[in-house]
Amino acid sequence: MPPHSSQSVVILGTGSYLPERVVTNDDMAKLVDTSDEWIRSRTGIGERRFAAKGETTSDMACEAGRKAIESAGIAKEEIDLIIVATMTPDMPFPSTACLVQSKLGLPNVTAFDIQAACSGFVYELSIASAMLRSGQFKRALIIGTEKTSSILDFEDRTTCVLFGDGAGAAVLGCGDATGVGILNCTGGSDGSNPSVLCQPAGGSAIPASIESIQARQHFLKMSGKEIFKQAVRVMGQACMDAIEPFGLKKDDINLVIPHQANMRIIDSLAKRLGIPMDKFHNNLDRYGNTSAASVGIALDEAYRAGRIHSGDYVLLVAFGAGLTWGSTLIKWQ
Ligand code: UT7
Repeated sequence: MPPHSSQSVVILGTGSYLPERVVTNDDMAKLVDTSDEWIRSRTGIGERRFAAKGETTSDMACEAGRKAIESAGIAKEEIDLIIVATMTPDMPFPSTACLVQSKLGLPNVTAFDIQAACSGFVYELSIASAMLRSGQFKRALIIGTEKTSSILDFEDRTTCVLFGDGAGAAVLGCGDATGVGILNCTGGSDGSNPSVLCQPAGGSAIPASIESIQARQHFLKMSGKEIFKQAVRVMGQACMDAIEPFGLKKDDINLVIPHQANMRIIDSLAKRLGIPMDKFHNNLDRYGNTSAASVGIALDEAYRAGRIHSGDYVLLVAFGAGLTWGSTLIKWQ
């Protein structure tokens, strides 16, 4: 439902960070039985970034967060809420958001993590905008950040070629103008079949043990085909749910920023929505699937590339493990 509050929540700034280390498809072919041709034609991925040894999910989050604060043109002390979305936290607890809070030098700021896998960035946009509208907070820093390379099985060619590391961030704040900013957030989840995409061990169901490690259960597992079918359907629906209450038509949308999982998924989504591909911002060829970071990185890239203008309708959409999905409709301020 469209928000009833008259106060708008706008994106004041964006930032992103990609680790320096570029890993090409040919590099992956040295590890598993794959090829540049297979990866490009089945996914659209050309290369990805992997974090340096010792570089953590929170380190990447801080880099992206600093850039978002700088782009917002505010003092970091104005931030009073930090939300981090990740499925590869530095450790199960404390939250990565608390580590980010400390590393950014923002004592006492409310900070917590959310876990919605690849839908993390659109979920935290929804959560942060509701928290700002409540009046309890004034400036939120939201970050999607992943070190997927820490949970990839480099003996499993069906998954390890797909993912990459990085972080995307945005600073949100309340604005006086009505009818702009984050207009609508939609989302959903279906936990009935968690094994289609999961990290089976390391939690309370299968705590770490010699057996769980020998069975390689601490790595990401995925049934790609299952996810593929669901992805196109739920992302298409999430987009329609976001725009229809505002009476918008597909031609009104200036830019779509989809989760970067597979170019064939994005192609199918574009056809389903009837929105041409030149209105989509993609970077899958360079970064692969960065999970919770993907939408934030693409948003920052599109903004800095001058693809977003005042008055534009921008539609963000994602899906991921859970399954989870969600969309955000923004009228750029
Ligand atoms: O972020 C959210 C979550 N994830 C996703 O969105 C992923 C959604 N799914 C996908 O993107 C695709 O399903 C994949 C890219 C994962 C797989 O593509 P596919 O067209 O569904 O391939 P497939 O799983 O049907 O595999 C086709 C063939 C198989 O060989 P056989 O059985 O036909 O002989 C696989 O063993 O391709 C083989 N294969 C590979 N070959 C070379 C699978 N991975 C690779 C590989 N290199 N890396």
